[in-house]
Amino acid sequence: MAAALGRWPLGLALCCLLGASLAVDRGNFKTCEQSGFCRRQRRIQPGNSPYRALLESLELGPDVARMRLVNEATQVPLLLELWGLSGNVTRLRIQELNPLQPRYQVPDVLLGEPPAERLEVTGRDEGTLELALGPGGHRLLVTERPFRLDLLRHRELLCSVNARGLLVFEHQRRRRDSDPPKDPPGEEGAAQEGPEDGAGSTQSEKPAEPPAEPEEEPGAWEETFKTHTDSKPYGPTSVGLDFSLPGFEHVYGIPEHAESLRLRPTEGGDPYRLYNLDVFQYEVFTPMALYGSVPLLLAHRPRLSLGLFWLNAAETWVDIGSNTAGKTLFGKLLDYMQGGGETPQTEVRWMSESGVIDVFLLLGPGPADVTAQYGRLTGTQALPPLFSLGYHQSRWNYQDEADVEAVERGFEEHELPLDVIWLDIEHADGKRYFTWDPSKFPNPRGMLERLAARKRRMVSIVDPHIKVDGGYRVHSELRARGLYVKTKDGNDYEGWCWPGSSAYPDFTNPEMREWWANMFAYDQYEGSTEALFTWNDMNEPSVFSGPEVTMHKDARHFGGWEHRELHNIYGLYVHKATAEGQIRRSGGRLRPFVLSRAFFAGSQRYGAVWTGDNTADWEHLRISIPMCLSFGLAGLAFCGADVGGFFQNPGPELQVRWYQAGAFQPFFRARTWTRRGASPWLLSPEHLAMVRAALRRRYALLPVWYTAFYRCHRQGIPVMRPLWMEFPDDPQTFAMDDQYLIDRVLLVHPVTEPDALGVNVYLPGEGEVWYNDETHEQHRAPQTLYVPVTLSTIPVFQRGGTVIPRQDRPRRSTEAMRNDPFTLYVALSPQGTAQGDLYLDDGVSFDYATKNAFLHRHFSFANGTLTSSSADPRGSMSSPAWLERVVILGVGRPDSALLTTHDGSQTPLQFQHDPARSVLTLRRPGVPIGADWSISLR
Ligand code: NOJ
Repeated sequence: MAAALGRWPLGLALCCLLGASLAVDRGNFKTCEQSGFCRRQRRIQPGNSPYRALLESLELGPDVARMRLVNEATQVPLLLELWGLSGNVTRLRIQELNPLQPRYQVPDVLLGEPPAERLEVTGRDEGTLELALGPGGHRLLVTERPFRLDLLRHRELLCSVNARGLLVFEHQRRRRDSDPPKDPPGEEGAAQEGPEDGAGSTQSEKPAEPPAEPEEEPGAWEETFKTHTDSKPYGPTSVGLDFSLPGFEHVYGIPEHAESLRLRPTEGGDPYRLYNLDVFQYEVFTPMALYGSVPLLLAHRPRLSLGLFWLNAAETWVDIGSNTAGKTLFGKLLDYMQGGGETPQTEVRWMSESGVIDVFLLLGPGPADVTAQYGRLTGTQALPPLFSLGYHQSRWNYQDEADVEAVERGFEEHELPLDVIWLDIEHADGKRYFTWDPSKFPNPRGMLERLAARKRRMVSIVDPHIKVDGGYRVHSELRARGLYVKTKDGNDYEGWCWPGSSAYPDFTNPEMREWWANMFAYDQYEGSTEALFTWNDMNEPSVFSGPEVTMHKDARHFGGWEHRELHNIYGLYVHKATAEGQIRRSGGRLRPFVLSRAFFAGSQRYGAVWTGDNTADWEHLRISIPMCLSFGLAGLAFCGADVGGFFQNPGPELQVRWYQAGAFQPFFRARTWTRRGASPWLLSPEHLAMVRAALRRRYALLPVWYTAFYRCHRQGIPVMRPLWMEFPDDPQTFAMDDQYLIDRVLLVHPVTEPDALGVNVYLPGEGEVWYNDETHEQHRAPQTLYVPVTLSTIPVFQRGGTVIPRQDRPRRSTEAMRNDPFTLYVALSPQGTAQGDLYLDDGVSFDYATKNAFLHRHFSFANGTLTSSSADPRGSMSSPAWLERVVILGVGRPDSALLTTHDGSQTPLQFQHDPARSVLTLRRPGVPIGADWSISLR
């Protein structure tokens, strides 16, 4: 344990000072071979599934079909349930028919019971059954022996389940020569019990005779990794299933991995692992688990996108196989020309340590349909308060109030916009969260008020490990109320973390979450004000002294559940309780801002996430793009990476490039360990000017970001998107992850190579045009464009056919620019048209949702006229902001430009035209941004 702790500050300081290269200590983390269930499952070869579907047991409820499956080797029966959910989603759940005790079914992720369609049996023969799933033309074929499901839309096969026979369901059993386990889960006030009652349910049935047990390998009832032994009182309980995706060569998602956007086949290596872990000095391009997990995988090919959402919160591994994996492009081409090639197919195999099989097949058909389907199940990104889309400044750590003041003054003096300053663990008194170190932060309220007066905010860290100290109120209350996670023997679970010996609140317990949320009240968290927001770190949870730097799997939670069942959802609960606390402290009026390091499916409802402790090198800069793209596909739109890199010292070139990239990622926080990273003005004046320019570009585009976040919040479409989401039929885009789109309007290709003289940018879209965002030069698409760059260039292109709103006046923060005038950039398509929108609200409250206090404008250019109209008539907010300028790209010089306002009055506008670039600038229309108006060019 001392070694584990020693690896942190001291080891870190030494390696960073000496500039030594960083590498993860792989030996701290399990491989599949070292993880008992993964090893057992991976040894099972495809073919010969022992499962048979008892077609005659079918019971068709109004919206669910239930039938039994039986393992013919062990005779253990399972219950299969199938739903056709509305909106092109199919759900399948498999669980034990007669479990010895209930199995964990993940609560609090789904927004509710998803509405289901009527099911119908449409065909049946000896070995097959056909079910129609609702009105979308989807049909499910259930094959009896071996059990298999084929999902079709009309005549097209979309996905097969258990086609490779890798269904695994390790049924609960009694340990030979031993007593039954004590305190079976689900007993003490657990929120959930066993399978639902009703047709096919088993609660009232007499358990069958115990089946003959298969031979068990050593380790099935106890597993040792390094110095830690997992007691496994319930024995082996893993589940697994395979999915075949015909026609698909590209799969994505299942964050978090430091990996390319397109997932790679895992044959010959480890599967991708989903197990929330605090990985010190993580490396790139590995399937190793990181801090968060979303078990959602997306598959895409021309004309079809699908999603597989595996709702299980236990340790999970995902194997990806491909029948074209080994083939070169030439080989595939040859296959194609000879007409003899196999249809490409991707195989996906999920393996989880426990729980049940509960899978949602999201059937698209388009990419945005899949993300919307997932959003309807698990919720969409919470609409962030506007300030949180500004720039965040963070360092481990700012010493005291004077340091905070000096940093803020630095931003002021160097005319760098800034919204938020962050405080790390040292701000608290002895790392007792919810307190302040009295000698360094004697007047936190005063400090926060000073920041707020300059329209800025602060974030303080509140970690979920609590110092074991009888004099610390948080600890004594949690201990007295019995709200800590327990050991397998029923004592409070203690481990080692930043404060030393620490206990871990059981956030799976609603009472604990309630207690925690109340701690954010201004009179509980003393010194806090409306200007203070929260950072939840270490919530995997990180336990320096625990196995794989996390909690023992046999620790016990609310309801008696083992930690093993719910490990991956622990961090979500911390995030949820904190966000609820912030909402509550404002009487439900104000939106929270909480950043979390660990996450699970549904975490998007509670705030932002980041990619953890990256390193100041070019690889980590590059990987931040695919990582955030894959977060976005999995619902977590508010993603960022520590700008500058957390470990080590970025050189000035890397630092500038990282600011430029970060300015175009959703969550924009610089965070380094070093002094220079924390103070951009320590750079040379030239480099500082480049950082300033990147920051100002971010702020000018905030209306685009905010509007995109609103769309994401409403529709579940990511803010930062892979190109294939907008160009789904262009295979050239399918593996691209060095460039991406913001909303559908801007294409960004950050420079991520040292000494770059130029970058190749792919401009997609048959017959489309793109405009360089700075020079306004026009480029036809599709093409790969070589863009020469200097250190100040950020290659960004506006899509022809779009309108974007900008606020171009440099200000100190988002709040300071709230009522600033707007400029519209109208980039015409080759047909001379464009569309766009602008969403505005008060930026802080829920009034947009509860009182329709928002303004949503639609802009459209056609036949030489630009029109502003309401995009949503419910919006009732007015804004003092006005329209300062309109810049039309790709247009000839008109004779006149006439503004018509909503009352019919007409005013000619002055303008300027640049014939070389075809750019028309209309001066001072001066109309309120929320008004109806039109401008005609004649
Ligand atoms: C780990 C976090 O990832 C890092 O950003 C932070 O500085 C340390 N914990 C200390 O709080």
